[in-house]
Amino acid sequence: MDKLDNYRLTLGKDLYIPIMLGGMGVNISNATLALEISRLGGIGHISDAMLPTVCDRELGTSYSKEKLNKYKYNVQNLDKSEIKFDLQEVYNAQKQYISSVMERKKGSGAIFVNVMEKLTMGDPIGSLKSRLDAALDAGVDGITLSAGVHMSSLGLIKDNKRFYDAKIGIIVSSDRALKVFLRSAKRVNRIPDYIVIEGPLAGGHLGFGEDYKEYKLESILEDVKNLLQLEGLQIPIIVAGGIFTGSDATKFIQLGANAVQVATRFVVSKECALPDNVKQKYFKAEKEDIVVNKLSPTGYLMRMLKSSPCMSGTLIPQCELFGYMLSKEGTCQYIEAYKKYLEKKSNEPISDKMCICTHFYNNTCYTCGENAYRLKETTSKNDDGTYKILNAKDIFNDYLYSASE
Ligand SMILES: Cc1cc2nc3c(=O)[nH]c(=O)nc-3n(C[C@H](O)[C@H](O)[C@H](O)COP(=O)(O)O)c2cc1C
Repeated sequence: MDKLDNYRLTLGKDLYIPIMLGGMGVNISNATLALEISRLGGIGHISDAMLPTVCDRELGTSYSKEKLNKYKYNVQNLDKSEIKFDLQEVYNAQKQYISSVMERKKGSGAIFVNVMEKLTMGDPIGSLKSRLDAALDAGVDGITLSAGVHMSSLGLIKDNKRFYDAKIGIIVSSDRALKVFLRSAKRVNRIPDYIVIEGPLAGGHLGFGEDYKEYKLESILEDVKNLLQLEGLQIPIIVAGGIFTGSDATKFIQLGANAVQVATRFVVSKECALPDNVKQKYFKAEKEDIVVNKLSPTGYLMRMLKSSPCMSGTLIPQCELFGYMLSKEGTCQYIEAYKKYLEKKSNEPISDKMCICTHFYNNTCYTCGENAYRLKETTSKNDDGTYKILNAKDIFNDYLYSASE
C-alpha cells in the first residue's frame, strides 16, 4: 500500500511534506489557513490578489480608503483612466501584510505567495514589480508566478537581494507555456525552483481555451517531463487540479510528479476565510451545479458554482476603491460590459462579465475545482442538516495518510 507520506518534496536544501495549498484569491487561502499548512510541514500559499484591500481588512490599515478619497470625484464617471495606484503604497501594503504573516510562521513548512500577472492595477509592469519586490523584502519563502506567461517577471526582480535566496516557481498548463517561460528565465540566469502544472479540473482561472475538456493532467505532466529532459533540467514538478484524495496524489507521484497542489478541499476547512454559509454551498453542490464560464474580466475561463451571485448583476464599477483589473488604458472588460448595459437601457442584468473586484471582496463568486461536488463525501452532517466543517489538519492528514494500491 502506497501513501503520500512515503514521499517528500525537496526544493533546494529544504525538505517538505509534498502538499502545497494552492493560492486562492482574494484572501480565501488566508494567513490562518496557509500558516496551518506550513506548521504541518507543507507549503501554504497566500495570494496577493487585492492585497492593499486585504491588508485594510486584516490589519486595520486604510490603503483603499485613502485611494477612494483621492479619486472620489470620479465615482460616477466610467472613464477610469485617471485612477492610478501609488506604487509605493502597493509596495508598503504588500510588504506590511506579508511580513505580518511571516512573523507568525511556525513549523518546518513554508509560506509562498501566489502572484498573478493578470492583476494589472492600471500599470501592469510597475505594479507587478512593486508586488514582487515587496514579497521578497518581506521575507516570503517563495513566489509562485501565476495567471499569465510572466515573460518579464524574473527580469523585474533580478537586482533584488533575495532573487536567488527565495524559491521561485511558475504555474503552467502546457509544455509550450513552460518553454516560453524557460527562455526568459535563462536570459536572467534564474531557472525556476519548481513548476506547478495546473490541469483543466482546477478551481479559479483556467489556463486553457474552450477546448479545456480535451486536456488531461497526466498527459501534460508527461509533456513537461519530456521538455525538461530535452532541456537537461531537473526541476521538481507539482501537479494541480482535481487531486481530491491521497490516492489521487500518490498516483501522480508514481507518474513522476514530486508533490501536489490542492485547493478545493481546503475551501471548506475551518481555517479558510470564507463565511460558513458559503462553505455550506460548496458542500451542497452537485456535479451539474459546477460551470465554466467567461465571466472573469481577465479573459480567462473560470470555474464556479452556478449559485454564485456574480452570475448576473448591474454593479457599478468601483475602481476608485478597488481597480485591480484596470488596464494601462484605464479600463477592464467589466467596465465595457457595463457601458453596453447602460447604452441598451434594458432591465436585463449583465451576465457576460462580472465585476471581479467587488464580487471577490464580497465573497459572491464561488469558484471551485471540478470535484467540488464530492466535498460532501468528506464529512458528515450536523443535527441541523448542515455539513460539519473540518480542521485543515484533518484534510491535510487525509491526503497524507490515506493508503492506495
Ligand atoms: C476558491 C479558489 C480560488 C482560487 N484562486 C486562485 C488564485 O487566486 N490564483 C491561482 O493561481 N490559482 C487559484 N486557484 C487555483 C488553485 O490554487 C489550485 O491550483 C487548484 O484549484 C487546484 O485544484 P483543486 O481545487 O481541484 O484542488 C483557486 C482555486 C480555488 C478553489
